Amino acid sequence: MNAAVRAVVRTALFNELDVYAIRQGYKGLISGNLKKVDSSDVSNTIQRGGTILKSARCEQFRTPEGREIAVQKLRDNGIDALVVIGGDGSFQGATLLGKEHGVNVIGVPATIDNDLVGTDETIGYDTALNTATEAIDKIRDTADAHDRLFLVEVMGRDAGFIALETGIAGGAELILLPESLTNLSEIKSSLTRVLEEHQRSSLVIIAEGDETGGALKLSEELKPDFGKYDMRVCILGHVQRGGNPTARDRVLASRLGSAAVTVLIEGHSEVMVGVVNNKIKLTPLKMTFGKKKDINYELVELAKTLR
Ligand code: F6P
Repeated sequence: MNAAVRAVVRTALFNELDVYAIRQGYKGLISGNLKKVDSSDVSNTIQRGGTILKSARCEQFRTPEGREIAVQKLRDNGIDALVVIGGDGSFQGATLLGKEHGVNVIGVPATIDNDLVGTDETIGYDTALNTATEAIDKIRDTADAHDRLFLVEVMGRDAGFIALETGIAGGAELILLPESLTNLSEIKSSLTRVLEEHQRSSLVIIAEGDETGGALKLSEELKPDFGKYDMRVCILGHVQRGGNPTARDRVLASRLGSAAVTVLIEGHSEVMVGVVNNKIKLTPLKMTFGKKKDINYELVELAKTLR
């Protein structure tokens, strides 16, 4: 996210525009937590995890009165366009600002879940993938030493992108995703096959949004039949949301942040900037939320072939 903020600031300044940073998202906008920034304010930030602008949930912004205050703050500061970096909740809010008050808004997709349509990848996804894969490699060492069965849960509220790609990268024996519905008896028979064939350590990667209800619940369900295996659960959790971004994420965020300003200058509004087939692509903001982005089913098949 910091790389995207930096790109927005520097592209705006390059085009001789004034640029303001709003801290804590819509909450900060309503409370007037914003300041004019210059190039040095974003120096030494591209490599940092988290967000220098912070983030916050804001119930008030969900109300027309709250949005009225937000718009007034923009007007008071002479701000006529807003670049919103986030996911579908942030984009719904941005769309309302455009519709109700004519504010020019551009969305920049950022979520580790990678579940936004209109872009091949979202900011943060690649970093989360690499963090989770590194953790899985480490878990594999213990699993291998003790011939254990590990159930590893990765993030992805409703989506299996992280699970699918970390599963392949980490050589998982089984990957459970919300998108490819599997019932318990299918899981048990796949696992039995894998364990009998391999006779060694095995890793199951589970997306937190999977219908099994996550790794802990699944381990309880498996205990009666798989009790003879030395089974362990590891929930990777919020480590996946932090850390220095990968080079690929920094480049993606720089491209998208810069494109957001460019398309604003060109007169666009209520669109999200994404990268599709390595080209910047615009998608109407209202098409980006409440939609299910397809996972790559070729990768689902690949994972089955390689396990
Ligand atoms: O949407 C991104 C995400 O990291 C999900 O993968 C996860 O379910 C959720 O956020 C965690 O949110 P919180 O930090 O609010 O618990």
